[in-house]
Amino acid sequence: MCGIAKLRFFFDSIKERLSFGGFYAIAFLKSFVLIVVTTISALRAKLDEARQQGLRVGFAPTMGALHRGHASLVHYARESVDLVVASIFVNPTQFNDASDLKNYPRTFDADRALLLEAGCDILFFPEVNEMYPEGTAEQTPVVDLGGLDLPMEGASRPGHFAGVVRIVHKLFEAVGPCRAFFGQKDFQQLAIVRRMTRELALPVEVVGCPIVREADGLAMSSRNVRLTAEERLIAPLLYASLLLVQELWAGEWSAAEVRGRALDFLAKEPRIEPIYLELVDADTLLPLREGQKKNAVACIAARLGVIRLIDNVVLG
Ligand code: PAJ
Repeated sequence: MCGIAKLRFFFDSIKERLSFGGFYAIAFLKSFVLIVVTTISALRAKLDEARQQGLRVGFAPTMGALHRGHASLVHYARESVDLVVASIFVNPTQFNDASDLKNYPRTFDADRALLLEAGCDILFFPEVNEMYPEGTAEQTPVVDLGGLDLPMEGASRPGHFAGVVRIVHKLFEAVGPCRAFFGQKDFQQLAIVRRMTRELALPVEVVGCPIVREADGLAMSSRNVRLTAEERLIAPLLYASLLLVQELWAGEWSAAEVRGRALDFLAKEPRIEPIYLELVDADTLLPLREGQKKNAVACIAARLGVIRLIDNVVLG
C-alpha cells in the first residue's frame, strides 16, 4: 500500500514540476528521485499530500557540508518511515562567530548526491529570507528550556541555542507531523530539541542517532575539512581523552579525579586547547550528584587552531 502510494506521490510530483514553480530540480538515480523544494509553502503542501496518502514522514535537518554522519540519519529514517525529508540551511542565527558563519563549508552539489545515495526523497533548501522574512535580529525565545541551554555549549557560545531553537521550531512547523532524526554528536542540542518539542507539544517524535566516527575515532563533523593536515592528525586525541574518561569511570575514581586525569592527558598536546570537559547527568546536563554512576555523559569541546570541535561519550 505504502509502496504504491509513494510511487503515485512521485509521479504526481514529476507531473507537477511542469507547472509548479516551487520545485526546481528533480534528479533520477536508480529509479529514485530527489525533489528539491525551496519554499515552506511548497514543502508543506507536498508533505500534507504525502501524509494524506498514508505515508509516514521522516526528517533530518542539517546545515549541509554533509558526511557519513548526516547520511546515517537518513538511513535510520528510511528504516522506520516511508518518505524522508532532509533540509540544508546554514542558519545564521545560531552562529555567534561571524567568521565561522562566513567560512562554514557550502558543498551543495556533493550534498545533493550524498542525500540521493543515502535514500533521501525530498531536500528542503531554503534561502535565508524564506526562513527569516522579518530578518534575523535576536528574538525572545518562545520556550522555557529549563536551563538545558546554560552549561557547556550554551556557556561558551552565547545565543547559539536560541538560534538553534528558533530554526528547528520553524523547520518542524514547515515539515509538520513527522519523526525527526538528530545525532547524539550534538548531545546538548538533542536534549534541547527534545525539551522544546515537548514544551510546545509539537507533533514530532525526536529520535537520537549514534555518533559516526572516522576510522581513527574522530567524530565526523562538517568542520573537520577545515583542519590542517597536522591538526587532523592530533584531532582524534579528543576522543582518546573521552575513552580515558570512560575507562577510569568504570573504576573507583570520582568525577573530579576522572576529569583531572583526562585534562592532564590532553595537556600533553599544547595545540589542543580544551574549552570544557564536563561529566554531567544525561537528562538535566547538570554536574553529576555525589556518587552518581548511572545516566552520565562526558562532553568535551576544544579548539585546534581556529577550529572548534565537540564530542561526547555516554558513561552508563
Ligand atoms: P549539522 O551540524 O549539519 O548537523 C545536522 C545533524 O547531523 C545533527 O543532528 C547532528 O547531530 C548530526 N551529526 C553531525 N555529525 C554527526 C556524526 N558524526 N554522527 C552522527 N550524527 C551527526 O546540527 C545542526 O546541523 C544544526 O544545529 C541544525 C540542527 C540543522 C539546526 O540548524
